[in-house]
Amino acid sequence: MARTYGEVMQIQIGMRSVLVLSGLDTFKQALIKQGDDFAGRPDLYTFRHVGDGQSLAFSNDCGEIWKARRRLAQSALKAFASAPCTGSSCSCLVEEHICKEADYLVGKFAELMETKGGFDPCRYIVVSVANVISAMCFATRYGHEDQELVSLVDLTDEFGRAAGSGNLADFIPIFQYLPNRSMENFKRVNAKVFAFIQGLVKQHYQSFDKDNIRDITDSLIDHCQEKKVDENANIQVSDQKIVNIVNDLFGAGFDTVTTALSWSLMYLVAYPEIQKKLQAELDRIIGKERRPRLSDKAMLPYAEAFILEMFRHSSFVPFTIPHCTTRDTSLNGYFVPKDTCVFVNQWQVNHDEKIWKDPFTFNPDRFLSAQGTSVSKTEAEKVTIFGLGKRRCIGEHIGRTEVFLFLTTLVQQLEFSMAGGEKPDMSADYGLTMKHKRCMMHARPRFQL
Ligand code: HEM
Repeated sequence: MARTYGEVMQIQIGMRSVLVLSGLDTFKQALIKQGDDFAGRPDLYTFRHVGDGQSLAFSNDCGEIWKARRRLAQSALKAFASAPCTGSSCSCLVEEHICKEADYLVGKFAELMETKGGFDPCRYIVVSVANVISAMCFATRYGHEDQELVSLVDLTDEFGRAAGSGNLADFIPIFQYLPNRSMENFKRVNAKVFAFIQGLVKQHYQSFDKDNIRDITDSLIDHCQEKKVDENANIQVSDQKIVNIVNDLFGAGFDTVTTALSWSLMYLVAYPEIQKKLQAELDRIIGKERRPRLSDKAMLPYAEAFILEMFRHSSFVPFTIPHCTTRDTSLNGYFVPKDTCVFVNQWQVNHDEKIWKDPFTFNPDRFLSAQGTSVSKTEAEKVTIFGLGKRRCIGEHIGRTEVFLFLTTLVQQLEFSMAGGEKPDMSADYGLTMKHKRCMMHARPRFQL
């Protein structure tokens, strides 16, 4: 449709006019140059039920309170992710958590091969990834068989499906008042996730000690108790709105990374020669005596190129969370009224023939210099998966770090293939994040574990 109707296109969904944006230059114009105009979120009925209506990512508040909360979330994430760690070869706390979980996952896959002869990787990746964000938010680690966590992460699949495809009630208001099974389901999922997080927050309030800030939740409670005023905006944000930030961080922090890693494994098994090239690079630069670390990243251009190509080719976050205009504005010569719902089509940019040669071919080499020794920054910046501008993902650094460390550790230690030599099904289910079909895999240890 973008080819026929252009990069700024309007469609009608039910009672709502929706502006659909395509093209990298149009994204930059709307989301960066006119960032304030396009920084809102639409008041969708489904979004009112996320995080008790107070979500940083989904609620339609985009004023000073949202700005203050976003800054607070960014600084809490930064403080805990980059906190120094002691007694390991890691450079910071988040790296230490990820490396521990990645090691555990290697052992788990090897054990499952011995005991069960195969495994569904998503089922285990999700718990390891949830443990990283849970360590930062709640200083808590869960076992892979922990029923509470397993049932919670299963709910996230349902959340993604409902939030991504929208709901009739978002576009035809009468459906808000009629019996609607998918909406009831969506509310149930949100209420359950919210109750789980509230339980942890309550425990944190009970054991809070201002001289021992254990995690992001403690640091947010501390912020409330000190009644700190946001220095930049002079804005006072309610305690509940501060502590609820942890909801967004936890929710956004594991589904995306889990999906990225499970797509990575799919590409490894679909392209065994590419898996071999990754392993050859890891063997040459790291060897088998130690595990990959963040400080190795610059020396592993093929691994970085593989990750960029996985982001681009899968485009597993096909659209950003919907945006909304905050005032009357214009874009590429078209008038756009205030409160227009805007869909940002990241998938189109990642498959645009104008900027990619053979966009449907999976080819990590497209990001490498002629000698294969470095990644082209210009090409890398064209991949669009974290959004752009004022609403750009605040977990991007942690997300990229997790994907790099989990993937390089897994592929250094194990060789992946499809169980029974089947061909992987790379078709995607639509949702806020697009998932591939669940499947059984094999992993052969490459060295003595
Ligand atoms: C928003 C992608 C990891 C926290 C977003 C958006 C995208 C995105 C596309 C919406 C941007 C927009 O609406 O324009 C990703 C991908 C990830 C990832 C691909 C991993 C590979 C994370 C992690 C965290 C996180 C690890 C937290 C620790 C958030 C939050 C928002 C957000 C809080 C809402 C920002 C706002 O509305 O102001 N992310 N994300 N994300 N992300 Fe991520």
